[in-house]
Amino acid sequence: MRNLAVLASGGGSNLQAILDHLATLGADAPARVALVVSDRAGAFALERARARGIPAVHLPRTAPADALEQTLVEHEAHLVALAGYLRLIPAGVVRRWAGSILNIHPALLPAFGGHGMYGHHVHDAVLAAGARLSGATVHFVNEQFDRGAIIAQWPVPVRQDDTADTLAQRVLRVEHRLYPWCVEAVARGAVRLGEDGKVQGAVPYDFPRFGVEGPRHPFVPDP
Ligand code: GRF
Repeated sequence: MRNLAVLASGGGSNLQAILDHLATLGADAPARVALVVSDRAGAFALERARARGIPAVHLPRTAPADALEQTLVEHEAHLVALAGYLRLIPAGVVRRWAGSILNIHPALLPAFGGHGMYGHHVHDAVLAAGARLSGATVHFVNEQFDRGAIIAQWPVPVRQDDTADTLAQRVLRVEHRLYPWCVEAVARGAVRLGEDGKVQGAVPYDFPRFGVEGPRHPFVPDP
C-alpha cells in the first residue's frame, strides 16, 4: 500500500474524487491518502481530510523552505498528487520524489500552462484565444510549472456561449474522472517516468466508453 499525499490550495474536489475512487477499489486499492497539505488555512480540502481522520497540515507561505519535504518524510509519503495546489514544488522535493509527483491542469498542455496559469486565468486565456477545444491534462511534476511529462489528457469542447465558469465546470467533471485513474495507474506502477524523461505505460481509459464530455475521439470507433 502506497502512502499518497495530496496538496491542495482550494476546495479539494479532485481530492474528493481520489478518495472516492480509492474507496471504490476497496482492498484492491494500491494507495491510501495518508496526508493532505495546504498553503491556505481555510482550504476546504483540509476540512475534507479532517472529516476522514486524515492528517491535515497547513503550511503557510512563511513556513521554512524545507517544511514541505519534512512533512512528506514525516508522513512517509510515497506518492504526491497536486490537486489545485498553487505553490511551486521546491527542487529538493521534485528530486526526492522524482516520478512520484503528479499534477492536474485544467487545459490541454503544453498550451495554456505555466506561471500564473491557474483557476479562471486558464479558462479566460482559452476563451480569449478562441480555442475550440480545451480539456484536462495529468502530468508528472518537474521544476517548472506545468512542464513535466504528460501522463494522460481528455478533451472538452469549448462552446460559443461559454464563460470561464461554465468551461471550468465542464473541465472539472472530466478532471474528477481522469485524475483518480492516473493516480491509481502510477500507484500500481502501470505508468512510470522513464530514465529518458518519457512516460512508460498508459492509463487504461477510453473516453467514448466512459461518457464523453466532448467530441468523440477521432481515432476510436463508436462503441
Ligand atoms: C482544478 O481545476 C485543477 O485542475 C486546478 O485547480 C482546480 C482545483 O479544484 N489545478 P479542486 O480544488 O480540486 O476542486
